[in-house]
Amino acid sequence: MKKFSKRDFTLGFMEGIIGVCDSIEGAQDIYYGSMGDRDAWRYYFIQKRERSNEVDADILMNSKVWEASGHVSGFSDPLVDCKECKTRHRADNLIDDFAPEANADAMTQEEMNAYIKEHKVICPVCGKSNFTEIRQFNLMFGTKRGVTEESGAMIYLRPENAQGEYVNFLNVQRTMRAKLPFSIGQIGKAFRNEITPGNFTFRTIEFEQMEYQTFCKKGTDSETYEYFKEYGMEFFQYLGLPKEKLRFHDHEKLAHYAKEACDIEYAFPLGWGEINGTHNRTDFDLTRHQEFSKKSMDYLEEETGEKFVPYVIESTYGLDRIILALLFENLHEEMVGESDKRIVLNIAPKLAPIKVNVLPLIKKKHSEMAKQVYHQLMPYMMVNYDETGSIGKRYRRGDAIGIPFAVTIDDNTLENGTITIRDRDSMEQEVIPMEGVVPYLLTKLK
Ligand code: GAP
Repeated sequence: MKKFSKRDFTLGFMEGIIGVCDSIEGAQDIYYGSMGDRDAWRYYFIQKRERSNEVDADILMNSKVWEASGHVSGFSDPLVDCKECKTRHRADNLIDDFAPEANADAMTQEEMNAYIKEHKVICPVCGKSNFTEIRQFNLMFGTKRGVTEESGAMIYLRPENAQGEYVNFLNVQRTMRAKLPFSIGQIGKAFRNEITPGNFTFRTIEFEQMEYQTFCKKGTDSETYEYFKEYGMEFFQYLGLPKEKLRFHDHEKLAHYAKEACDIEYAFPLGWGEINGTHNRTDFDLTRHQEFSKKSMDYLEEETGEKFVPYVIESTYGLDRIILALLFENLHEEMVGESDKRIVLNIAPKLAPIKVNVLPLIKKKHSEMAKQVYHQLMPYMMVNYDETGSIGKRYRRGDAIGIPFAVTIDDNTLENGTITIRDRDSMEQEVIPMEGVVPYLLTKLK
């Protein structure tokens, strides 16, 4: 079982302070993240919520952790092979594509086997219907630890962040003297040996999760679960996804650890797809880790003197799928005037990885002054400096990657110290004094 160190989560706290600027009035309400919705999630869940803690746990974890969590025995996909063309498929996906109303999600393995045979479900590659029986295929990537193959102990790359948060539960609780309910969140990579990766970044074998576990007392769990379902819906609207393209999808077939489970789905052009999950995991995970590590996971409630293993409500977000949804939602080709076209990423300014483009109108004449503006802005936000090509082309390049503002330095800057600020969406321009550029942009970003 893993030995835990303070480092595991103090690193997380340090990351959590990146980008916070408090030198400007009201700036505590803004985050100046450089990496889009990863920082937005950190703001919304870690910074803005009371009793939130962030950890940075291990990616490679002892097999005991995954035995305890149930992943070694149960984290698998139902696979079939086409006997005709030798391609491999997920049985539930085959049925979903063949007849979405059949609801493979709610079927057992036997029911899926029977459905495929009875309805002669066809192979999407060769069009024939001749499959093997379903076999379960474990999705974890494993490797060996140690110098020689023989002495190596099996370890796994984490297929979810959650277990790193559970095994750190008492570390965080004791160090932070945290009282229930409190939460532990983490942003980090997860790895799954997906048999059918695809649909852009919707399903990949290496992806990033933003997971958030709230530890609470039994009896308050269902209320906390309902709260996080709604909080997730609000978060997506905060990112700019429209309400009408979001929906809840309650699970009919519950995972081994769950008492209640619901996804939030987004209407991708490819169909509705899960971008978040909220799960009432009861005391399953902590109890299992307690059994396997032989270390008590009890929480002592000071007010009553009662000792118990808390319940966990998990709220999990897939970063890559959210970015994909934001790209579908915000990347447009639009006409400018009668004959010109531009590609523009209308992502909310708070999510834009680069906040401002600094552009000298004429490289030879204006670059020295433009670099001053560039350096003036750098401590406050991510800035791009671009001096190559015509000004029109540089505006377009910035529009296509979603930079919300462009600052142009021209003869007026040299003569009377003014700069021109162009808004990505309206393409309107405003002239302001050069020394006012930082507060102007910070206010706009808010
Ligand atoms: N700890 C619970 C858990 O991992 P999950 O529904 O398997 O639950 C959580 O995954 C989120 O991770 C999903 O809502 C999805 O956004 C994202 N996700 C899962 N598998 C993925 C994959 N193969 N590629 C990209 N994102 C994935």
